[in-house]
Amino acid sequence: MNVDVREIEHSEADAELLAVGLYEDGSLADGLAGASGAEAAKGDYKSLSPAFLGDRRVLIAGLGKRADADPERLRVVAALVAKEAARLRAGSLAWALPEADDPRAAAEAIVAGTILGAYRFEGFKKPPPEQPVRLDSLTLLAGDEVAAAAEAARVYAEAANRARDLQSTPANFAKPEDLAARAEEIAAGSDAVSAEILGPDQLREKGMGGLLAVSQGGPVEPRLIVLRYSGGGSGPTLGLVGKGVTFDTGGISLKPGAGMHEMKYDMSGAAAVLESVAAIAELGLGIDLVAVVPSTENMPSGTAVKPGDVITQYNGVTVEVNNTDAEGRLILADALAYAVELGAERLVDLATLTGAVTIALGSTYAAVIANDDELAAALAAASARSGELTWRLPLHPEFKELMKGKVADLSNLGSQRKAGTITAASFLEEFVDATPWAHVDIAGTAWDVGREYTGKEASGFGVRLLVELARELAG
Ligand code: BES
Ligand code: MN
Ligand code: ZN
Repeated sequence: MNVDVREIEHSEADAELLAVGLYEDGSLADGLAGASGAEAAKGDYKSLSPAFLGDRRVLIAGLGKRADADPERLRVVAALVAKEAARLRAGSLAWALPEADDPRAAAEAIVAGTILGAYRFEGFKKPPPEQPVRLDSLTLLAGDEVAAAAEAARVYAEAANRARDLQSTPANFAKPEDLAARAEEIAAGSDAVSAEILGPDQLREKGMGGLLAVSQGGPVEPRLIVLRYSGGGSGPTLGLVGKGVTFDTGGISLKPGAGMHEMKYDMSGAAAVLESVAAIAELGLGIDLVAVVPSTENMPSGTAVKPGDVITQYNGVTVEVNNTDAEGRLILADALAYAVELGAERLVDLATLTGAVTIALGSTYAAVIANDDELAAALAAASARSGELTWRLPLHPEFKELMKGKVADLSNLGSQRKAGTITAASFLEEFVDATPWAHVDIAGTAWDVGREYTGKEASGFGVRLLVELARELAG
């Protein structure tokens, strides 16, 4: 979407649709009070009232009480306006920046809410007889001081939408090689980004036993994708790891059929990591990144890894595979150890790792489990600013106890059905050495969120969080 910021009067904006916010306990700006229809407009949160300024279509968007104003409400309202713009077949929109405590944050919220709210997955249906109009231009009526914020929001919201495309693409089109191709495309798009892709032969050479074990059940080749971004800055290198299971049947520990199609989304962590690197590079943030994405299908077959099999991870730790459906941790273990070897000094991994996280936190919060309070605090700040909500869960030696193996160092399955999200994280912790690390379980938030700007399908969760974290850590 084309986004620009202009300090002009409402009447000078030449967009097909003009949106203005109205607080319940506020009033319309001078130039608008006389718009026909404006007298009936209310400021109730999420209400939309049509009006006309001459022959210009206007939407008066209810913002609720001024005291309750925050960026989240603006994202929601901006998404509603974007959907209404599509319904009205408007290709261009002007938004008058409402009065706000933090105008930059408000500008970001409107830009992000508009871009995320206007998103839909193109899919594979034959085109409708009449091409739908796309909202492709947003003008923010505001001062120049919010221009950089608006541009940042454009970049990360578009990156989130690309992640949603990757997520939604079915597993017969989005294979490990396709994620690798996207990584190479990202590298080709920036001088500061390079990609390196490892295939089965190199994985065997290196001894990436987790990724190999998960992939051995099917004919689709695994890939280990490495993206590096050199943005400079004085801070430590940030390592990003994303789970890239392009389809998770559960393997021999087969999942039930109902809902299994949703497991095309089991690469949502990978999508978020790849597209956040693209966004961070596009913004030119002053930080060095190393991103590692292990990608494979998890299939059952005569060659598949079996319950009880023992594998050796990249760092030499042995693991009993007691449930082949706990595959994410096996591929992440190799990737985390590799990221440390490649120079990651801080690590954040994103993964649709456990169904248990949805029981605990629904689709509202992702779980964060971290071995380092400073990194956890940085992530919490990024979460608050992006609106991608996270909630920290604890580590404890007793959880680690549950992950000990009978005949190997570790088991990939907890010995009791307790604290599934935390035990999975405790397993991962064995592969990061002493590196400050935070694991983000996005199984509940990657799709089916149902907020106005996320929709019910893929949400792109994690892109905005990671970009925000990089903005925070960048020097
Ligand atoms: N990809 C799933 C987790 C998942 C489940 C994500 C539902 C989204 C929705 C993961 O690989 C998995 O199967 N985890 C198991 C672990 C268990 C066997 C210890 C789970 O959560 O049931
Ligand atoms: Mn699984
Ligand atoms: Zn999985």
